Amino acid sequence: SYGSALHIALPQAPRAGQLLTLLIDYEAGEGPGVCWLSPEQTAGKQKPYMYTQGQAVLNRSFFPCFDTPSVKFTYSATVKVPEGFTAVMSATSWEKQKDNTFVFKMSQPIPSYLIALVVGDIVSADVGPRSRVWAEPCLIEAAKKEYDGVIEEFLVVGEKLFGPYVWGRYDILFMPPSFPFGGMENPCLTFVTPCLLAGDRSLVDVIIHEISHSWFGNLVTNATWGEFWLNEGFTMYAQRRISTEVYGLPYTCLEAATGRALLRQHMDATGEDHPLNRLRVVIEPGFCLFLGVNPDDTYNETPYEKGYCFVSYLAHLVGNQSKFDAFLQAYVNRFKFQSITADDTLGFFLEYFPELKEKGVDSIPGFEFDRWLNTPGWPPYLPDLSPGQQLMRPADELAELWAADGLNMEAIEAVDITGWRTYQLVYFLDQVLQKSPLPEGNVKRLSKMYPKISQAQNAELRLRWCQIVLKNNLEAEYSKVKDFLHSQGKQKYTLPLYRAMWGGSEATRALAMETFSATAPQLHVNVQDYVKKILGLGEAE
Ligand code: BES
Ligand code: ZN
Repeated sequence: SYGSALHIALPQAPRAGQLLTLLIDYEAGEGPGVCWLSPEQTAGKQKPYMYTQGQAVLNRSFFPCFDTPSVKFTYSATVKVPEGFTAVMSATSWEKQKDNTFVFKMSQPIPSYLIALVVGDIVSADVGPRSRVWAEPCLIEAAKKEYDGVIEEFLVVGEKLFGPYVWGRYDILFMPPSFPFGGMENPCLTFVTPCLLAGDRSLVDVIIHEISHSWFGNLVTNATWGEFWLNEGFTMYAQRRISTEVYGLPYTCLEAATGRALLRQHMDATGEDHPLNRLRVVIEPGFCLFLGVNPDDTYNETPYEKGYCFVSYLAHLVGNQSKFDAFLQAYVNRFKFQSITADDTLGFFLEYFPELKEKGVDSIPGFEFDRWLNTPGWPPYLPDLSPGQQLMRPADELAELWAADGLNMEAIEAVDITGWRTYQLVYFLDQVLQKSPLPEGNVKRLSKMYPKISQAQNAELRLRWCQIVLKNNLEAEYSKVKDFLHSQGKQKYTLPLYRAMWGGSEATRALAMETFSATAPQLHVNVQDYVKKILGLGEAE
Protein backbone atom coordinates (compact mmCIF):
# COMPACT_ATOMS: atom_id res chain seq x y z
CA SER A 1 0.00 0.00 0.00
CA TYR A 2 3.01 2.30 0.09
CA GLY A 3 3.54 1.95 -3.66
CA SER A 4 6.96 2.73 -5.03
CA ALA A 5 8.94 5.78 -6.00
CA LEU A 6 8.72 7.15 -9.51
CA HIS A 7 12.23 8.03 -10.66
CA ILE A 8 12.52 10.52 -13.47
CA ALA A 9 15.80 11.07 -15.26
CA LEU A 10 16.08 14.48 -16.90
CA PRO A 11 17.77 14.70 -20.30
CA GLN A 12 20.10 17.32 -18.90
CA ALA A 13 20.79 18.62 -15.43
CA PRO A 14 18.66 21.71 -14.74
CA ARG A 15 20.18 24.99 -13.62
CA ALA A 16 19.43 26.07 -10.06
CA GLY A 17 16.16 28.00 -10.00
CA GLN A 18 15.17 26.86 -13.48
CA LEU A 19 11.45 26.19 -13.93
CA LEU A 20 10.70 22.68 -15.20
CA THR A 21 7.47 21.38 -16.70
CA LEU A 22 7.05 17.67 -16.39
CA LEU A 23 4.29 15.82 -18.22
CA ILE A 24 3.49 12.41 -16.78
CA ASP A 25 1.16 10.17 -18.75
CA TYR A 26 -0.31 7.52 -16.47
CA GLU A 27 -3.32 5.39 -15.70
CA ALA A 28 -4.62 4.86 -12.20
CA GLY A 29 -7.59 3.40 -10.44
CA GLU A 30 -6.66 0.03 -9.03
CA GLY A 31 -5.00 1.38 -5.89
CA PRO A 32 -6.49 1.99 -2.46
CA GLY A 33 -6.97 5.74 -3.00
CA VAL A 34 -9.68 5.41 -5.64
CA CYS A 35 -12.89 3.64 -4.65
CA TRP A 36 -15.28 2.31 -7.29
CA LEU A 37 -18.80 1.56 -6.11
CA SER A 38 -21.44 -0.47 -7.90
CA PRO A 39 -25.01 0.90 -8.05
CA GLU A 40 -26.01 -1.40 -5.15
CA GLN A 41 -23.43 0.30 -2.95
CA THR A 42 -25.06 3.73 -3.33
CA ALA A 43 -28.12 5.13 -1.61
CA GLY A 44 -30.08 5.37 -4.88
CA LYS A 45 -28.96 1.95 -6.19
CA GLN A 46 -29.25 3.19 -9.80
CA LYS A 47 -25.84 4.36 -10.94
CA PRO A 48 -22.21 3.61 -10.06
CA TYR A 49 -20.14 6.05 -8.03
CA MET A 50 -16.47 6.75 -7.51
CA TYR A 51 -14.66 8.66 -4.81
CA THR A 52 -11.11 9.20 -3.67
CA GLN A 53 -9.81 9.24 -0.09
CA GLY A 54 -6.28 10.56 0.22
CA GLN A 55 -5.50 10.72 3.92
CA ALA A 56 -3.12 9.46 5.05
CA VAL A 57 -1.01 8.04 2.19
CA LEU A 58 -3.52 6.77 -0.35
CA ASN A 59 -3.45 9.52 -2.98
CA ARG A 60 -0.21 8.19 -4.45
CA SER A 61 -2.40 5.60 -6.15
CA PHE A 62 -4.59 8.38 -7.58
CA PHE A 63 -1.92 10.62 -9.13
CA PRO A 64 1.88 10.90 -9.01
CA CYS A 65 2.83 13.27 -6.19
CA PHE A 66 5.10 14.04 -3.31
CA ASP A 67 2.75 12.13 -1.03
CA THR A 68 3.80 13.68 2.24
CA PRO A 69 2.00 16.40 4.22
CA SER A 70 5.26 18.37 4.29
CA VAL A 71 4.90 19.44 0.64
CA LYS A 72 2.15 21.88 -0.44
CA PHE A 73 1.07 22.89 -3.93
CA THR A 74 -1.87 24.28 -5.90
CA TYR A 75 -3.62 22.12 -8.49
CA SER A 76 -6.04 22.21 -11.34
CA ALA A 77 -7.89 19.33 -12.96
CA THR A 78 -10.02 18.67 -16.02
CA VAL A 79 -12.42 15.79 -15.46
CA LYS A 80 -14.52 14.25 -18.20
CA VAL A 81 -17.37 12.04 -16.98
CA PRO A 82 -20.12 10.02 -18.70
CA GLU A 83 -23.52 11.57 -19.43
CA GLY A 84 -25.70 11.79 -16.30
CA PHE A 85 -22.81 12.12 -13.84
CA THR A 86 -21.41 15.09 -11.97
CA ALA A 87 -17.82 15.57 -10.80
CA VAL A 88 -16.84 17.59 -7.73
CA MET A 89 -13.42 18.22 -6.20
CA SER A 90 -11.81 19.88 -3.21
CA ALA A 91 -11.20 23.03 -5.22
CA THR A 92 -11.68 26.79 -5.00
CA SER A 93 -13.55 27.04 -8.29
CA TRP A 94 -15.27 24.74 -10.72
CA GLU A 95 -16.92 25.15 -14.05
CA LYS A 96 -18.92 22.79 -16.25
CA GLN A 97 -17.92 22.89 -19.89
CA LYS A 98 -19.37 21.06 -22.88
CA ASP A 99 -19.04 17.26 -23.25
CA ASN A 100 -19.60 16.60 -19.52
CA THR A 101 -16.24 18.11 -18.75
CA PHE A 102 -15.57 19.80 -15.41
CA VAL A 103 -12.64 22.12 -14.79
CA PHE A 104 -11.38 22.64 -11.24
CA LYS A 105 -8.80 24.92 -9.73
CA MET A 106 -7.47 25.00 -6.18
CA SER A 107 -5.72 28.33 -5.79
CA GLN A 108 -4.22 27.84 -2.32
CA PRO A 109 -1.30 25.51 -1.63
CA ILE A 110 -2.42 22.26 0.00
CA PRO A 111 -0.78 18.91 0.79
CA SER A 112 -1.46 15.90 -1.46
CA TYR A 113 -3.81 14.19 0.99
CA LEU A 114 -6.39 16.99 0.61
CA ILE A 115 -7.01 16.50 -3.10
CA ALA A 116 -10.30 14.68 -3.53
CA LEU A 117 -12.67 13.78 -6.34
CA VAL A 118 -16.18 12.35 -6.49
CA VAL A 119 -18.05 11.31 -9.60
CA GLY A 120 -21.63 10.19 -9.20
CA ASP A 121 -25.27 10.95 -9.64
CA ILE A 122 -25.20 13.89 -7.25
CA VAL A 123 -27.12 17.14 -6.93
CA SER A 124 -26.80 20.16 -4.64
CA ALA A 125 -28.89 22.54 -2.58
CA ASP A 126 -27.94 25.82 -0.91
CA VAL A 127 -27.83 25.88 2.88
CA GLY A 128 -26.05 29.19 3.48
CA PRO A 129 -24.40 32.18 1.81
CA ARG A 130 -21.19 30.24 1.09
CA SER A 131 -22.41 26.69 1.63
CA ARG A 132 -24.38 24.02 -0.16
CA VAL A 133 -24.95 20.34 0.45
CA TRP A 134 -24.28 17.69 -2.20
CA ALA A 135 -25.91 14.26 -2.15
CA GLU A 136 -27.52 11.63 -4.32
CA PRO A 137 -30.97 12.86 -5.44
CA CYS A 138 -32.80 10.55 -3.00
CA LEU A 139 -30.95 12.11 -0.04
CA ILE A 140 -30.84 15.76 -1.01
CA GLU A 141 -34.05 16.79 0.78
CA ALA A 142 -32.87 15.20 4.03
CA ALA A 143 -29.42 16.72 3.58
CA LYS A 144 -30.81 20.21 3.08
CA LYS A 145 -33.16 19.85 6.01
CA GLU A 146 -30.37 18.65 8.32
CA TYR A 147 -28.10 21.67 7.84
CA ASP A 148 -30.14 24.47 6.27
CA GLY A 149 -29.17 27.77 7.88
CA VAL A 150 -26.78 26.37 10.51
CA ILE A 151 -23.39 26.18 8.77
CA GLU A 152 -22.73 29.89 8.46
CA GLU A 153 -22.79 30.46 12.21
CA PHE A 154 -20.00 27.90 12.73
CA LEU A 155 -17.89 29.59 10.05
CA VAL A 156 -18.48 33.04 11.52
CA VAL A 157 -17.57 31.88 15.04
CA GLY A 158 -14.50 30.07 13.63
CA GLU A 159 -13.37 33.25 11.90
CA LYS A 160 -13.90 35.29 15.04
CA LEU A 161 -11.77 32.85 17.02
CA PHE A 162 -9.06 31.76 14.58
CA GLY A 163 -8.92 34.36 11.81
CA PRO A 164 -10.14 34.58 8.21
CA TYR A 165 -11.65 31.54 6.48
CA VAL A 166 -9.41 31.47 3.42
CA TRP A 167 -11.01 28.71 1.37
CA GLY A 168 -13.93 30.63 -0.19
CA ARG A 169 -16.78 28.14 -0.11
CA TYR A 170 -17.58 25.58 2.56
CA ASP A 171 -19.70 22.82 1.01
CA ILE A 172 -20.66 19.40 2.38
CA LEU A 173 -20.92 16.20 0.37
CA PHE A 174 -22.91 13.28 1.78
CA MET A 175 -21.11 10.11 0.76
CA PRO A 176 -22.43 6.60 0.16
CA PRO A 177 -22.92 4.49 3.32
CA SER A 178 -19.57 2.69 3.04
CA PHE A 179 -17.55 5.90 3.46
CA PRO A 180 -15.10 4.93 6.21
CA PHE A 181 -15.05 8.20 8.19
CA GLY A 182 -17.47 10.44 9.99
CA GLY A 183 -16.04 13.31 8.02
CA MET A 184 -13.04 14.22 5.88
CA GLU A 185 -11.92 17.83 5.74
CA ASN A 186 -11.28 18.11 1.99
CA PRO A 187 -10.87 21.88 1.53
CA CYS A 188 -13.95 23.74 0.23
CA LEU A 189 -15.86 20.44 0.25
CA THR A 190 -16.05 18.31 3.39
CA PHE A 191 -17.00 14.67 2.78
CA VAL A 192 -19.31 13.16 5.43
CA THR A 193 -20.98 9.86 6.20
CA PRO A 194 -24.74 9.76 5.50
CA CYS A 195 -25.08 8.59 9.13
CA LEU A 196 -25.10 12.30 10.00
CA LEU A 197 -28.62 12.48 8.56
CA ALA A 198 -30.20 11.89 11.95
CA GLY A 199 -33.07 14.28 11.25
CA ASP A 200 -32.37 16.41 14.32
CA ARG A 201 -28.90 17.94 13.73
CA SER A 202 -27.70 15.94 16.75
CA LEU A 203 -24.43 14.86 15.06
CA VAL A 204 -23.42 18.34 13.93
CA ASP A 205 -20.24 18.15 16.05
CA VAL A 206 -18.70 16.28 13.10
CA ILE A 207 -19.36 19.29 10.86
CA ILE A 208 -17.90 21.67 13.45
CA HIS A 209 -14.87 19.38 13.62
CA GLU A 210 -14.30 19.41 9.86
CA ILE A 211 -14.83 23.18 9.73
CA SER A 212 -12.18 23.53 12.45
CA HIS A 213 -9.69 21.78 10.17
CA SER A 214 -9.98 24.84 7.90
CA TRP A 215 -7.45 26.41 10.27
CA PHE A 216 -5.84 23.42 12.02
CA GLY A 217 -4.75 20.82 9.49
CA ASN A 218 -5.59 22.51 6.22
CA LEU A 219 -3.82 25.85 6.88
CA VAL A 220 -1.31 24.74 9.52
CA THR A 221 -0.44 21.15 8.68
CA ASN A 222 1.45 18.40 10.46
CA ALA A 223 4.71 17.94 8.54
CA THR A 224 4.71 14.17 9.17
CA TRP A 225 2.03 11.63 10.04
CA GLY A 226 4.00 10.85 13.18
CA GLU A 227 2.65 14.14 14.53
CA PHE A 228 -0.95 13.66 13.42
CA TRP A 229 -2.05 14.99 16.84
CA LEU A 230 -1.08 18.48 15.64
CA ASN A 231 -3.92 18.23 13.12
CA GLU A 232 -6.44 16.39 15.26
CA GLY A 233 -5.69 17.55 18.81
CA PHE A 234 -5.80 21.23 17.83
CA THR A 235 -8.91 20.55 15.76
CA MET A 236 -10.67 18.89 18.71
CA TYR A 237 -9.79 21.93 20.80
CA ALA A 238 -11.03 24.33 18.10
CA GLN A 239 -14.20 22.26 17.62
CA ARG A 240 -15.00 22.51 21.32
CA ARG A 241 -14.25 26.23 21.38
CA ILE A 242 -16.76 26.79 18.56
CA SER A 243 -19.22 24.43 20.24
CA THR A 244 -18.87 26.33 23.52
CA GLU A 245 -19.63 29.62 21.79
CA VAL A 246 -22.65 28.22 19.94
CA TYR A 247 -24.10 25.64 22.34
CA GLY A 248 -22.62 26.65 25.68
CA LEU A 249 -20.18 25.07 28.10
CA PRO A 250 -22.38 22.39 29.72
CA TYR A 251 -23.29 20.76 26.42
CA THR A 252 -19.71 20.97 25.14
CA CYS A 253 -18.36 19.38 28.32
CA LEU A 254 -20.87 16.57 27.91
CA GLU A 255 -19.65 15.96 24.35
CA ALA A 256 -16.02 16.10 25.58
CA ALA A 257 -16.87 13.56 28.29
CA THR A 258 -18.03 11.10 25.63
CA GLY A 259 -14.70 11.72 23.89
CA ARG A 260 -12.86 10.95 27.11
CA ALA A 261 -14.84 7.71 27.45
CA LEU A 262 -13.66 6.74 23.96
CA LEU A 263 -10.06 7.42 24.96
CA ARG A 264 -10.55 5.25 28.06
CA GLN A 265 -11.98 2.40 25.96
CA HIS A 266 -9.16 2.73 23.44
CA MET A 267 -6.42 2.67 26.07
CA ASP A 268 -8.07 -0.26 27.86
CA ALA A 269 -8.23 -2.17 24.59
CA THR A 270 -4.66 -1.47 23.46
CA GLY A 271 -2.92 -1.11 26.83
CA GLU A 272 -1.85 2.34 27.99
CA ASP A 273 1.79 1.63 27.17
CA HIS A 274 1.13 0.82 23.55
CA PRO A 275 3.58 2.81 21.39
CA LEU A 276 0.66 4.33 19.47
CA ASN A 277 -0.54 5.92 22.72
CA ARG A 278 2.11 8.61 22.48
CA LEU A 279 1.38 11.90 20.76
CA ARG A 280 4.56 11.63 18.70
CA VAL A 281 4.46 8.28 16.94
CA VAL A 282 7.32 6.55 15.21
CA ILE A 283 6.13 5.53 11.76
CA GLU A 284 7.95 2.40 10.63
CA PRO A 285 7.98 1.42 7.00
CA GLY A 286 6.52 -2.07 7.04
CA PHE A 287 5.31 -3.10 3.62
CA CYS A 288 1.67 -3.70 4.48
CA LEU A 289 -0.89 -3.00 7.18
CA PHE A 290 0.28 -6.01 9.13
CA LEU A 291 3.94 -5.13 9.58
CA GLY A 292 5.48 -1.91 10.77
CA VAL A 293 3.44 1.16 11.71
CA ASN A 294 1.45 2.53 8.80
CA PRO A 295 0.41 6.21 9.08
CA ASP A 296 -3.20 5.02 8.96
CA ASP A 297 -2.62 3.17 12.26
CA THR A 298 -2.43 6.56 13.98
CA TYR A 299 -6.18 6.98 13.36
CA ASN A 300 -7.21 6.14 16.92
CA GLU A 301 -8.42 8.13 19.93
CA THR A 302 -4.98 9.15 21.22
CA PRO A 303 -4.09 11.95 18.77
CA TYR A 304 -7.65 13.26 19.12
CA GLU A 305 -8.40 13.10 22.82
CA LYS A 306 -4.93 13.04 24.36
CA GLY A 307 -4.04 15.76 21.87
CA TYR A 308 -7.08 17.69 23.07
CA CYS A 309 -5.90 17.31 26.66
CA PHE A 310 -2.43 18.64 25.76
CA VAL A 311 -3.85 21.71 24.02
CA SER A 312 -6.19 22.20 27.00
CA TYR A 313 -3.14 21.94 29.24
CA LEU A 314 -1.42 24.71 27.27
CA ALA A 315 -4.58 26.82 27.71
CA HIS A 316 -4.54 25.98 31.43
CA LEU A 317 -0.92 27.19 31.70
CA VAL A 318 -1.99 30.48 30.12
CA GLY A 319 -4.94 30.62 32.50
CA ASN A 320 -7.04 33.02 30.46
CA GLN A 321 -9.31 31.94 27.61
CA SER A 322 -9.15 35.09 25.53
CA LYS A 323 -5.35 35.20 25.78
CA PHE A 324 -5.19 31.60 24.64
CA ASP A 325 -7.67 32.27 21.81
CA ALA A 326 -5.43 35.14 20.71
CA PHE A 327 -2.45 32.79 20.78
CA LEU A 328 -4.28 30.28 18.54
CA GLN A 329 -5.07 33.02 16.06
CA ALA A 330 -1.44 34.20 16.07
CA TYR A 331 -0.29 30.59 15.65
CA VAL A 332 -2.47 30.11 12.57
CA ASN A 333 -1.27 33.38 11.16
CA ARG A 334 2.37 32.52 11.82
CA PHE A 335 2.28 29.06 10.21
CA LYS A 336 -0.54 29.30 7.62
CA PHE A 337 0.19 27.43 4.37
CA GLN A 338 3.12 25.72 6.07
CA SER A 339 3.78 22.25 7.41
CA ILE A 340 5.25 22.11 10.88
CA THR A 341 6.32 19.85 13.74
CA ALA A 342 5.36 19.95 17.42
CA ASP A 343 8.71 21.60 18.11
CA ASP A 344 7.58 24.55 15.96
CA THR A 345 4.27 24.71 17.80
CA LEU A 346 5.72 24.54 21.28
CA GLY A 347 8.62 26.84 20.39
CA PHE A 348 6.12 29.42 19.18
CA PHE A 349 4.01 28.95 22.32
CA LEU A 350 6.99 29.73 24.57
CA GLU A 351 8.03 32.62 22.37
CA TYR A 352 4.48 34.06 22.47
CA PHE A 353 4.31 33.76 26.28
CA PRO A 354 7.85 34.71 27.40
CA GLU A 355 6.75 34.83 31.05
CA LEU A 356 5.78 31.15 30.82
CA LYS A 357 9.09 30.31 29.15
CA GLU A 358 10.82 32.15 31.98
CA LYS A 359 8.94 30.00 34.49
CA GLY A 360 10.09 26.84 32.70
CA VAL A 361 6.57 25.51 32.06
CA ASP A 362 7.99 23.08 29.53
CA SER A 363 9.67 21.08 32.28
CA ILE A 364 7.26 20.98 35.24
CA PRO A 365 7.83 17.51 36.75
CA GLY A 366 5.16 15.09 35.54
CA PHE A 367 3.94 17.53 32.88
CA GLU A 368 7.10 17.99 30.79
CA PHE A 369 6.33 18.81 27.16
CA ASP A 370 8.68 15.97 26.29
CA ARG A 371 6.63 13.57 28.38
CA TRP A 372 3.40 14.72 26.72
CA LEU A 373 4.92 14.01 23.32
CA ASN A 374 6.95 10.88 23.91
CA THR A 375 5.49 8.90 26.81
CA PRO A 376 2.58 6.60 26.03
CA GLY A 377 -0.35 6.49 28.42
CA TRP A 378 -3.19 8.38 30.01
CA PRO A 379 -2.89 12.18 29.74
CA PRO A 380 -1.18 13.73 32.79
CA TYR A 381 -3.71 16.59 32.74
CA LEU A 382 -7.45 16.41 32.10
CA PRO A 383 -9.48 19.56 31.49
CA ASP A 384 -12.28 20.18 33.97
CA LEU A 385 -15.56 18.93 32.51
CA SER A 386 -17.63 19.62 35.60
CA PRO A 387 -19.70 22.34 33.89
CA GLY A 388 -21.31 19.38 32.10
CA GLN A 389 -22.34 17.77 35.40
CA GLN A 390 -25.90 19.05 35.18
CA LEU A 391 -26.31 16.96 32.03
CA MET A 392 -24.14 14.02 33.09
CA ARG A 393 -25.35 13.48 36.65
CA PRO A 394 -28.87 12.26 35.75
CA ALA A 395 -27.30 9.87 33.24
CA ASP A 396 -24.76 8.62 35.79
CA GLU A 397 -27.51 8.04 38.34
CA LEU A 398 -29.74 6.24 35.89
CA ALA A 399 -26.88 3.97 34.81
CA GLU A 400 -26.27 3.17 38.51
CA LEU A 401 -29.92 2.15 38.89
CA TRP A 402 -29.77 -0.16 35.87
CA ALA A 403 -26.59 -1.83 37.09
CA ALA A 404 -28.16 -2.82 40.42
CA ASP A 405 -28.91 -6.41 41.33
CA GLY A 406 -32.59 -6.12 42.15
CA LEU A 407 -33.90 -3.36 39.89
CA ASN A 408 -35.58 -0.49 41.67
CA MET A 409 -38.24 0.06 39.02
CA GLU A 410 -39.92 2.80 40.93
CA ALA A 411 -36.76 4.89 40.92
CA ILE A 412 -36.09 4.01 37.29
CA GLU A 413 -39.59 4.96 36.17
CA ALA A 414 -39.28 8.27 37.96
CA VAL A 415 -36.53 9.31 35.54
CA ASP A 416 -37.98 10.77 32.37
CA ILE A 417 -35.51 10.50 29.50
CA THR A 418 -37.87 11.69 26.77
CA GLY A 419 -36.30 15.15 26.75
CA TRP A 420 -32.67 13.98 26.80
CA ARG A 421 -30.32 15.12 24.07
CA THR A 422 -28.60 12.49 21.94
CA TYR A 423 -25.25 13.01 23.67
CA GLN A 424 -26.88 12.56 27.08
CA LEU A 425 -28.18 9.20 25.90
CA VAL A 426 -24.76 8.40 24.44
CA TYR A 427 -23.14 9.25 27.76
CA PHE A 428 -25.70 7.13 29.63
CA LEU A 429 -25.08 4.17 27.30
CA ASP A 430 -21.31 4.50 27.72
CA GLN A 431 -21.82 4.26 31.49
CA VAL A 432 -24.03 1.20 31.06
CA LEU A 433 -21.45 -0.36 28.76
CA GLN A 434 -18.70 0.27 31.27
CA LYS A 435 -20.74 -1.50 33.97
CA SER A 436 -21.65 -4.40 31.66
CA PRO A 437 -22.31 -7.25 31.81
CA LEU A 438 -25.26 -6.17 33.95
CA PRO A 439 -27.06 -8.64 36.21
CA GLU A 440 -29.07 -11.22 34.26
CA GLY A 441 -32.23 -9.79 32.67
CA ASN A 442 -31.47 -6.10 33.20
CA VAL A 443 -30.51 -5.27 29.64
CA LYS A 444 -33.56 -7.05 28.28
CA ARG A 445 -35.68 -4.93 30.56
CA LEU A 446 -33.80 -1.77 29.59
CA SER A 447 -34.35 -2.56 25.92
CA LYS A 448 -38.10 -2.84 26.48
CA MET A 449 -38.32 0.23 28.63
CA TYR A 450 -36.51 2.56 26.17
CA PRO A 451 -37.42 1.79 22.55
CA LYS A 452 -36.04 5.28 21.87
CA ILE A 453 -32.64 3.70 22.55
CA SER A 454 -32.94 0.08 21.51
CA GLN A 455 -34.81 0.93 18.28
CA ALA A 456 -32.82 4.08 17.58
CA GLN A 457 -31.92 5.06 14.03
CA ASN A 458 -29.23 7.47 15.20
CA ALA A 459 -25.85 5.87 14.39
CA GLU A 460 -24.10 6.95 17.63
CA LEU A 461 -26.90 5.36 19.65
CA ARG A 462 -26.97 2.26 17.47
CA LEU A 463 -23.23 1.75 17.97
CA ARG A 464 -23.56 1.90 21.77
CA TRP A 465 -26.65 -0.26 21.82
CA CYS A 466 -24.90 -2.91 19.72
CA GLN A 467 -21.88 -2.82 22.05
CA ILE A 468 -24.18 -3.32 25.04
CA VAL A 469 -26.06 -6.16 23.30
CA LEU A 470 -22.76 -7.94 22.63
CA LYS A 471 -21.21 -7.39 26.04
CA ASN A 472 -24.36 -8.73 27.69
CA ASN A 473 -24.85 -11.65 25.28
CA LEU A 474 -28.36 -10.48 24.44
CA GLU A 475 -28.81 -13.02 21.67
CA ALA A 476 -32.33 -11.87 20.88
CA GLU A 477 -30.88 -8.62 19.52
CA TYR A 478 -27.79 -9.87 17.67
CA SER A 479 -29.61 -9.12 14.44
CA LYS A 480 -29.30 -5.42 15.27
CA VAL A 481 -25.52 -5.71 15.17
CA LYS A 482 -25.73 -7.39 11.80
CA ASP A 483 -28.19 -4.82 10.44
CA PHE A 484 -26.05 -1.92 11.63
CA LEU A 485 -22.91 -3.35 10.01
CA HIS A 486 -24.82 -3.95 6.79
CA SER A 487 -26.14 -0.39 6.76
CA GLN A 488 -22.85 1.55 6.89
CA GLY A 489 -19.07 1.06 6.83
CA LYS A 490 -17.61 3.72 9.09
CA GLN A 491 -14.32 2.49 10.56
CA LYS A 492 -14.99 3.82 14.06
CA TYR A 493 -18.30 1.92 14.18
CA THR A 494 -17.14 -1.19 12.39
CA LEU A 495 -13.91 -2.07 14.22
CA PRO A 496 -15.20 -1.81 17.83
CA LEU A 497 -18.10 -4.11 16.95
CA TYR A 498 -15.87 -6.74 15.33
CA ARG A 499 -13.51 -6.52 18.32
CA ALA A 500 -16.46 -7.07 20.66
CA MET A 501 -17.79 -9.97 18.60
CA TRP A 502 -14.39 -11.61 18.33
CA GLY A 503 -13.77 -11.20 22.04
CA GLY A 504 -17.17 -12.72 22.90
CA SER A 505 -18.79 -16.14 22.69
CA GLU A 506 -18.76 -18.75 19.97
CA ALA A 507 -22.07 -17.35 18.77
CA THR A 508 -20.74 -13.80 18.41
CA ARG A 509 -17.62 -15.07 16.65
CA ALA A 510 -19.82 -16.86 14.15
CA LEU A 511 -21.85 -13.68 13.77
CA ALA A 512 -18.65 -11.78 13.04
CA MET A 513 -17.57 -14.21 10.34
CA GLU A 514 -20.99 -14.34 8.74
CA THR A 515 -21.37 -10.55 8.76
CA PHE A 516 -17.90 -9.94 7.41
CA SER A 517 -18.22 -12.34 4.52
CA ALA A 518 -21.48 -10.67 3.51
CA THR A 519 -20.29 -7.06 3.87
CA ALA A 520 -16.56 -7.16 3.05
CA PRO A 521 -16.98 -6.17 -0.62
CA GLN A 522 -18.75 -2.97 0.49
CA LEU A 523 -16.08 -1.89 2.96
CA HIS A 524 -13.18 0.43 2.19
CA VAL A 525 -10.06 -1.71 1.64
CA ASN A 526 -8.34 -0.27 4.72
CA VAL A 527 -11.35 -1.13 6.87
CA GLN A 528 -11.46 -4.61 5.32
CA ASP A 529 -7.80 -5.12 6.19
CA TYR A 530 -8.30 -3.98 9.79
CA VAL A 531 -11.29 -6.30 10.22
CA LYS A 532 -9.27 -9.18 8.78
CA LYS A 533 -6.59 -8.46 11.32
CA ILE A 534 -9.15 -8.60 14.15
CA LEU A 535 -10.62 -11.86 12.85
CA GLY A 536 -7.19 -13.42 12.32
CA LEU A 537 -7.77 -13.62 8.58
CA GLY A 538 -4.69 -11.58 7.66
CA GLU A 539 -1.86 -12.49 5.37
CA ALA A 540 0.43 -11.76 8.31
CA GLU A 541 2.71 -14.55 9.38
N1 BES B 1 -9.17 13.79 8.96
C1 BES B 1 -10.04 13.00 9.76
C2 BES B 1 -10.38 11.68 9.12
C3 BES B 1 -9.18 10.81 8.79
C4 BES B 1 -8.19 10.59 9.73
C5 BES B 1 -9.08 10.20 7.57
C6 BES B 1 -7.09 9.79 9.42
C7 BES B 1 -7.99 9.41 7.26
C8 BES B 1 -6.99 9.20 8.18
C9 BES B 1 -11.34 13.75 10.08
O1 BES B 1 -11.16 15.12 10.30
C10 BES B 1 -11.85 13.24 11.39
O2 BES B 1 -11.16 13.37 12.35
N2 BES B 1 -13.05 12.67 11.40
C11 BES B 1 -13.66 12.18 12.61
C12 BES B 1 -14.69 13.18 13.10
C13 BES B 1 -14.88 13.24 14.59
C14 BES B 1 -13.63 13.35 15.39
C15 BES B 1 -15.83 14.36 14.94
C16 BES B 1 -14.29 10.84 12.28
O3 BES B 1 -14.37 10.48 11.10
O4 BES B 1 -14.68 10.14 13.17
ZN1 ZN C 1 -10.20 15.51 12.16
